[in-house]
Amino acid sequence: MTSRGPGQPLDSVPSRLNPNPNTSIVLTVLTAGFVVLAYAFARVPARPGLVSRPPLVSREALAITPGTVRVSAAELIRSGGDVSGLDCYACHHKDSPPEIKYDAEHRIVLPKEHADLIISMRNCSECHPPNDPVKLDYDASGNVIVPEAHKGLLAMAHGHTLRNNNCYNCHDRDQLDQLHTPEGVVLKFEQATLLCASCHGPTYRDWMAGAHGRTSGYWDRKAGPMRREECASCHDPHAPAFTGLIPMPGPHLLHPLPQQRQVPPRGPDDHDL
Ligand code: HEC
Ligand code: HEC
Ligand code: HEC
Ligand code: HEC
Ligand code: HEC
Repeated sequence: MTSRGPGQPLDSVPSRLNPNPNTSIVLTVLTAGFVVLAYAFARVPARPGLVSRPPLVSREALAITPGTVRVSAAELIRSGGDVSGLDCYACHHKDSPPEIKYDAEHRIVLPKEHADLIISMRNCSECHPPNDPVKLDYDASGNVIVPEAHKGLLAMAHGHTLRNNNCYNCHDRDQLDQLHTPEGVVLKFEQATLLCASCHGPTYRDWMAGAHGRTSGYWDRKAGPMRREECASCHDPHAPAFTGLIPMPGPHLLHPLPQQRQVPPRGPDDHDL
């Protein structure tokens, strides 16, 4: 390492750093080039697909209420809703309990008055955005017109083998507006969870422990109550299994996959709940 003497001028250093005058020309040309490029990027829009990006989650999906898929009798009564469907003796007579009718395959035939049994208590706004409300339609003679997409929600179906389809396993024959457990404990409609518990002990224990179903309300009990959703807020007592559902659209992909698989449209039976 050489050291600079005290009398040596300082301005001799830059001349050694820039020995070639062409460097300045190259740098000027490069700078001008980048300025032109920057202008071009700022002015010319990028690829059309990237300019108007659809939102990650559609507004419609966000508008859906985080409720349960069903309005249980207990919830209906609590919220002061229309409970006329729970008033069995508006149509039936105490002295002549309805006879259950079966078809040739021993499946229960629902009369037209009960043809909407499995869909009527659904919480439509759970899946249909409130800005596009839906309701069940009935024809002139009072038959429910079940939407095509919900055609699977027509028949009694409690258990794979339909073992628990008999109305009077749960409803009291002589007191239609009451429920009863196999042991004969009489319950009101709003106590349906205890009816389910009488046959589904292990699931009920899971539910009590918070491992099945859903907890709503407040974690901080001082702020408000915690609520365990009732069995009938999710499961229809008449057809409790969940069938396939059309999933919500996935998040928008910034770059489409090279060969996105075309999912064929599914049949109406696939997307009932
Ligand atoms: C809008 C009128 C109406 C209401 C309300 C009503 N039912 Fe019915 N129900 C009928 C008619 C009509 C039939 C068929 C004729 C018959 O058997 O009496 C029927 C049949 C039945 C059957 C036999 C089902 C079958 O598939 O053969 C049962 C069980 C029954 N009802 C229970 C109830 C219960 C429980 C309630 C109250 C939660 C109720 N119904 C409320 C009109 C009604
Ligand atoms: C668990 C979700 C879910 C619930 C709850 C639900 N629906 Fe649907 N509904 C769907 C799906 C999925 C479709 C099919 C949508 C499509 O094809 O675009 C559909 C379609 C419909 C259609 C369109 C017509 C047709 O035949 O395709 C109507 C009308 C409808 N539902 C009415 C109702 C009513 C009334 C309720 C409440 C009693 C209800 N839905 C509850 C998921 C639901
Ligand atoms: C597994 C028990 C069970 C069976 C089997 C059953 N029900 Fe029910 N049913 C209930 C419960 C529980 C309710 C109260 C519903 C709630 O909490 O949403 C109810 C409600 C009803 C209602 C009034 C509410 C509605 O959904 O319209 C009618 C009508 C009814 N049941 C008729 C019948 C008929 C008819 C049959 C036989 C074809 C039958 N039920 C079989 C448990 C049962
Ligand atoms: C009288 C007894 C009894 C009562 C009451 C009862 N269940 Fe069931 N449940 C059954 C039987 C039996 C099965 C069929 C089990 C099988 O096929 O493996 C079943 C099946 C089910 C299934 C599974 C369905 C499937 O196809 O996988 C669900 C979910 C269910 N019940 C929910 C309920 C709910 C919710 C209630 C209360 C509204 C209820 N059950 C009341 C006897 C009962
Ligand atoms: C928040 C909604 C919700 C509530 C509340 C709820 N369940 Fe379920 N339950 C489900 C779902 C989702 C499944 C899974 C269905 C599937 O896999 O097809 C299920 C499955 C089941 C099954 C099928 C067997 C199993 O354990 O997987 C039974 C039986 C059952 N539930 C009974 C009950 C009973 C009884 C209650 C009330 C004590 C209850 N459920 C409350 C949503 C609920």
